[in-house]
Amino acid sequence: MTTQVLRICVLVALLAGWMAAAVDQPIAYTHKKHIAIGMQCLDCHSMADIGPAATIPSVAKCMLCHAKIATDKPEIKKMATEYAAKGREIPWVRVYGFEPHAFVKFNHAPHIRAKVDCATCHGDMTQVDTAQKLVNHNMGTCLACHRQKGASQDCATCHY
Ligand code: HEC
Ligand code: HEC
Ligand code: HEC
Ligand code: HEC
Ligand code: HEC
Repeated sequence: MTTQVLRICVLVALLAGWMAAAVDQPIAYTHKKHIAIGMQCLDCHSMADIGPAATIPSVAKCMLCHAKIATDKPEIKKMATEYAAKGREIPWVRVYGFEPHAFVKFNHAPHIRAKVDCATCHGDMTQVDTAQKLVNHNMGTCLACHRQKGASQDCATCHY
């Protein structure tokens, strides 16, 4: 094999790996456009400062605007006819999470109260369309910050 062919093979392999990392969602939602019109993370992920889960909004909330906005766009039509009109929620594919066998309990609220930014744990979400895993979380990354900020390092803080 020539070096040229080898280079192309490496490129194709890298591209395939990158595409596999991007999550395919049922609606081509875009963070970038909604942040550009002035929406805040908490407008949609409204439980992040008060509960364990940040939560993803119901399609009913999307339709508060999209019953009138961009109704001619194919993705908005799909949202209206396939989900909202049928009373079905959009089955978003989760991006972050832990293996069930690790028995991790995570809680957003204490982090938001302690002024840890969304971006510290999720990267710059203002420039992406659908969410991508921009930050990897593991026990080491949790503990490094807990140690630094004097937060609890007890096993029972993060495990059931
Ligand atoms: C506060 C009003 C508002 C809410 C709430 C809202 N959107 Fe939007 N959305 C907009 C505006 C404004 C645009 C830009 C429209 C344009 O470019 O013409 C947009 C654009 C979009 C687009 C891109 C359309 C295209 O093809 O250009 C999608 C998809 C979308 N929204 C989905 C959603 C979903 C899903 C939700 C709920 C999680 C949601 N929106 C909630 C106002 C809103
Ligand atoms: C200290 C790190 C950290 C911070 C800060 C943080 N998150 Fe998260 N977030 C996570 C982890 C870890 C998960 C996965 C949790 C799980 O699956 O149990 C997650 C999950 C999510 C999810 C998935 C749905 C859900 O209900 O959990 C959304 C949406 C989300 N975060 C949004 C946000 C927003 C918006 C902010 C800022 C207001 C934020 N996060 C701040 C670490 C963080
Ligand atoms: C208009 C509503 C809206 C706004 C505003 C919004 N998001 Fe989202 N977010 C969504 C929707 C819908 C999803 C599910 C689709 C996806 O994964 O992109 C999502 C998914 C996510 C996820 C992936 C959760 C998981 O584990 O599956 C994270 C993290 C997240 N958002 C963070 C943020 C942050 C940080 C901000 C502010 C910079 C923000 N979002 C602003 C609607 C919104
Ligand atoms: C960037 C810093 C940072 C990262 C990363 C981080 N944490 Fe935290 N965590 C904190 C701070 C600060 C607090 C608040 C401590 C307080 O209120 O005294 C906290 C609190 C908590 C609490 C609540 C503790 C209690 O006493 O109620 C849990 C649970 C938790 N973190 C789990 C995790 C897990 C699991 C991860 C990794 C996925 C993680 N944290 C990553 C900084 C961080
Ligand atoms: C600040 C949060 C935090 C603390 C404190 C913590 N862990 Fe973890 N631990 C995690 C997270 C998050 C994972 C999952 C990592 C992943 O999915 O890669 C994990 C994974 C593990 C795993 C691997 C489980 C599996 O099936 O993959 C073991 C074992 C473990 N922790 C034991 C402990 C023990 C023992 C302690 C106390 C000495 C402890 N942990 C304290 C956050 C924490």
